[in-house]
Amino acid sequence: MKKIQVGLLGCGTVGTGVAKLLIEKKELISSRVGMEIILKHAADIDLETDRGITFEKGVLTTDAQAVINDPEIDIIVEMIGGTGIAREFIINAMDRGKHVVTANKALLATHGNEIFKLAGQKGLDIGYEASVGGCMPIIKSLRESLVANDIQSMTGILNGTCNYILSKITQDRSPFEHALSEAQAKGFAEADPTLDVEGFDTAHKLAILGALAYGTTINLEDIFVEGISKITPLDITFAEQFGYRIKLLAISKKRKNSFEARIHPTMIPANNLIANVHGSLNAVTVTGDAVGDTMLFGHGAGMMPTGSAVVSDVVDIARNIAGGNIGRVPGLSFQQDRIKTIPIMPIADLETHYYFRFSAQDRPGVLSRISGVLGNHDISLKSVIQKGRKAKGPVPLIMLTHLAREANVMKALDRLSELDVISDRPMVIRIEDSSLNHEKAVIRDE
Ligand code: HSE
Repeated sequence: MKKIQVGLLGCGTVGTGVAKLLIEKKELISSRVGMEIILKHAADIDLETDRGITFEKGVLTTDAQAVINDPEIDIIVEMIGGTGIAREFIINAMDRGKHVVTANKALLATHGNEIFKLAGQKGLDIGYEASVGGCMPIIKSLRESLVANDIQSMTGILNGTCNYILSKITQDRSPFEHALSEAQAKGFAEADPTLDVEGFDTAHKLAILGALAYGTTINLEDIFVEGISKITPLDITFAEQFGYRIKLLAISKKRKNSFEARIHPTMIPANNLIANVHGSLNAVTVTGDAVGDTMLFGHGAGMMPTGSAVVSDVVDIARNIAGGNIGRVPGLSFQQDRIKTIPIMPIADLETHYYFRFSAQDRPGVLSRISGVLGNHDISLKSVIQKGRKAKGPVPLIMLTHLAREANVMKALDRLSELDVISDRPMVIRIEDSSLNHEKAVIRDE
């Protein structure tokens, strides 16, 4: 039976999942693949921790470079993370003719153009299914299953930490800080949660999906990113009154000569499938012109779900090696010479519906002053709610808009912040509700 040998770099949570699957599911995998896939080496700086795996003698090592240099190893699996040494190891491995599997979305979002180009030039395969959505086969779907489609849009919950926190605030009406502490106690959120809660992890993932969907170079810098740390239980309650839930969504829509790529807390109808994805689960809907709507759902993180996605890449590459089919599917789905640089639409050009929550004085004339400023910026109101009555101090004043342009909204909010009847900058949440789409967009692409 043909043998494919694998070298694993990094034996943390996901690396351990990969090692477990390659060792414990060896029989199952070889009965499916018709080859023996052997974990020849697993490199990590920590050889002491009990990973719950029985490694054969000599498999575990601290010497990552020796693993990369080993001429018998066909595939290097990079599970170190980050954009430093991981990048060096991947380039080093490709220079030595090794195929690469990685789950490293930060690296691909920032250095993917270089890495995919190098893989193409050297005639090597690169697998990265686990970089987006953990076990959900979204990369394979875009690279292979949906190949006959123009991808019109993608909407994803791509960060389990944020989805857990928002679900917690929704369920318990607890403040963001409490929900975050609980997520940290349960091991979902990192000690420094910034990357997750401020939306940057989601942006890394959307940068990769955008490139795959549209055949563009990866462009992380132009993605609009807003996190969830300002969301309050009050906003969740008002969202419910309008029939919405709040999710951190990665949204991408194809336009004529550009595409939208934005991450922000979003109000979506409570009966939308993606609004009902709770806790740390991930989901993504992809709309293609031939297939219509499709949806994937599953664990976006964790030892075994992510390990499973990594092993699927190892198997794909093993099959390509055995069949003499390396390069069968290009790294970014499109042939290298067909990849363009498609611009991301500036957020100022976005046209959508908005939720505003003002802290406003409860005095005659306040509402008309606010709506006057909004009207002057071409922002028309759909609904207004004022809760409670107070002789002194601010009350929440909620407004939902008709279609409005982001640039106008931001200008209007600047003007409104000058009014003495409003305290604090208002809360702004964008709404995605296709049932409102009969309102004709007045902004056109290019
Ligand atoms: N930190 C990510 C999340 C998992 O919370 O979903 C890894 O991508």
